[in-house]
Amino acid sequence: MSTSDLQYIMAPGGTLRGQIDVPGDKSVSHRAIMLGALAEGQTQVSGFLEGKDSLNTLKAFQAMGVDIAHPEPGQLVIEGRGLYGLQAPEAPIDLGNSGTAMRLMSGVLAGQTFDSVLGGDQSLSARPMGRITEPLSAMGAEIQSETNGRPPLRIQGGLQLQGIDYELPMASAQVKSALLLAGLYASGETRVTEPAVTRDHTERMLQGFGYEVRREGLTTALTGGGTLTGTSVHVPSDLSSAAFFIIGASIAQGADITLRRVGLNPTRTGVLDILKLMGGDVEINQRDESGGEPVADITVRSAELRGVEIPESLVSLAIDEFPALFVAAACATGETVLSGAEELRVKESDRIQVMVDALTQLGIAAESRPDGAVIQGGKLQGGVVDSHGDHRVAMAMAMAGLAARESITVLDCANVDTSFPGFATLAQTHGLHLSLRD
Ligand code: S3P
Repeated sequence: MSTSDLQYIMAPGGTLRGQIDVPGDKSVSHRAIMLGALAEGQTQVSGFLEGKDSLNTLKAFQAMGVDIAHPEPGQLVIEGRGLYGLQAPEAPIDLGNSGTAMRLMSGVLAGQTFDSVLGGDQSLSARPMGRITEPLSAMGAEIQSETNGRPPLRIQGGLQLQGIDYELPMASAQVKSALLLAGLYASGETRVTEPAVTRDHTERMLQGFGYEVRREGLTTALTGGGTLTGTSVHVPSDLSSAAFFIIGASIAQGADITLRRVGLNPTRTGVLDILKLMGGDVEINQRDESGGEPVADITVRSAELRGVEIPESLVSLAIDEFPALFVAAACATGETVLSGAEELRVKESDRIQVMVDALTQLGIAAESRPDGAVIQGGKLQGGVVDSHGDHRVAMAMAMAGLAARESITVLDCANVDTSFPGFATLAQTHGLHLSLRD
């Protein structure tokens, strides 16, 4: 049996209790490798996510000649090669499941002197890349893709990029970041305006590496030709990983958990705002700052949730948390309506359809709409659901087991390792009735 046949079996009951440390932030981990590799001098990274996605980024930069020591889990020492020090990789770069790696690296590679090819797994190969190849082409890049702008991407080197003033057609931190990274290599100014606030880790980290980034409202700008200076990066715990435990504790009986030192960048905290609107019992303590990112402890207890109309202004701030929020909605009293979230259709799976199908399978009345869903809260039954290899769907459906009448089997769970290595063990230790079958 291949690893993609890994299944989660959730027996009924279970709860969540205790203090939980979730692994490092995936978005910050990718960026730490990229900026560390492009900086002058050494960068030390702590709290690095040892997940498949960020490890693929690490391997990609090693394949381009960057010396990255990995003395112990979570710790990296990157010997930066400067903006112009990368070497041509000997083979196409395999980025596995990671859209972030592919989109951000396209921006970096468009500015190199050498040609490169970026590919990935079946899910990544079906994701839209026209959103980056079009603006990068407008900057002077040459990138060939398969039909409909799908990977693999063949990126030509040796071209001089020019800055552009670009209005993003969709709220995407990956596209924004790709253009800012290409902007490091471009002549003049690169300006990007987004339609809604998206995560700003690239901007913060560029500033942490000493690069000037100008930010005004929804516009971010930088001028090419500067240098990045190696630094220390402390990666906070990933709020997107914590979210599964946050929602799990909210829907379980007798739950009480504290997630320690979780990243609370305000461009990521929509899940907490939405859960509070639903009546969640969430407390934030020990606010602190770590490596340019706010962190805090989050305490969550069981709550009686109610359905809500999710404000569209919170969608881009909670974009990765909708699989978990759909489960919260299924356990709430009344109707939850999500709109303005068409981006969910082009994630690791079509998260609107896959979640609606999974909840329907478990006896919940859920209807998909082009840009969202309507979910009637009810009582989850047991059954077999397919995660379609989407890590966040698999973890969300594992949490659904906390509130289900019968056992739930979740298919195709191996990709949980892309973002949350150790999820199953951590969940078992803290009270989930989870077992694995492979
Ligand atoms: C990410 C941006 C988001 C998010 C993804 C990580 C990033 O994608 O869904 O998991 O690190 O920049 P989009 O930019 O496509 O919204």
